[in-house]
Amino acid sequence: MADVLGTRWAAAGHELMVAGRTADKADALARKWGGRAGSFREVAEFGDIALIAVLYQGMSATLAEIGDGLRGKPIVDCNNPVEIEHFTLVTEPGRSMAQQIESATGGHVVKALNLCMAHVWRMEPPMFDNRLLAVPYCGDDPRALDMTRQLIADLGGEPLPIGDLRHAHHLEAMAAIVISLLYGGRDPYTVFNLVDRATVSVDA
Ligand SMILES: NC(=O)c1ccc[n+]([C@@H]2O[C@H](COP(=O)([O-])OP(=O)(O)OC[C@H]3O[C@@H](n4cnc5c(N)ncnc54)[C@H](OP(=O)(O)O)[C@@H]3O)[C@@H](O)[C@H]2O)c1
Repeated sequence: MADVLGTRWAAAGHELMVAGRTADKADALARKWGGRAGSFREVAEFGDIALIAVLYQGMSATLAEIGDGLRGKPIVDCNNPVEIEHFTLVTEPGRSMAQQIESATGGHVVKALNLCMAHVWRMEPPMFDNRLLAVPYCGDDPRALDMTRQLIADLGGEPLPIGDLRHAHHLEAMAAIVISLLYGGRDPYTVFNLVDRATVSVDA
């Protein structure tokens, strides 16, 4: 995810810095983006906003590395705490990974960009049935929400605010459905999009 999203955001004019547990991979991404690589703490301190994109198995270790470097900062959380045997959430009932990230970092988390495969973000713009892909996002902090809205727009998606961070849990559950479909053999460009009657020809 970081590769695809970072590539698009760099092209949109954002200055990027990256950290990862495998330094060579982080260096390669930084070169690709024309940005820099650093430690988790350095990256946390560099950015106006951070994307955390880590497999759920590595989330606790990554949050420990970040420490309190993101305290008070906007964070985009695209992560899905979904196991791939039965495609269920690994989080506590009713509790999202987004809330876990918020508690651990003290940052202003926005859940977003978790509902389709990274492939979709190579589409410029992501159009399905002649409609832009709607991108639901949620969080509590107005500035973090506004910055995330802009980042979604920079990807060519249609930002769709759905409320406060309590709804992150629902976006994570939605992703479990999408992931099960993808593992079931659906095309990587499979998405759920928002359809309304006004934009669709309907025979009454
Ligand atoms: N890929 C998608 O299409 C997609 C779409 C929507 C949401 N997401 C979500 O985005 C997040 C990132 O997915 P991705 O596909 O970009 O993952 P990825 O490329 O496989 O890995 C992302 C990062 O997680 C690190 N990582 C993996 N396992 C770890 C562990 N046990 N401990 C510490 N770090 C670990 C990786 O380090 P190494 O490089 O050293 O392994 C890498 O830096 C996930 O939460 C996923 O659910 C993915």
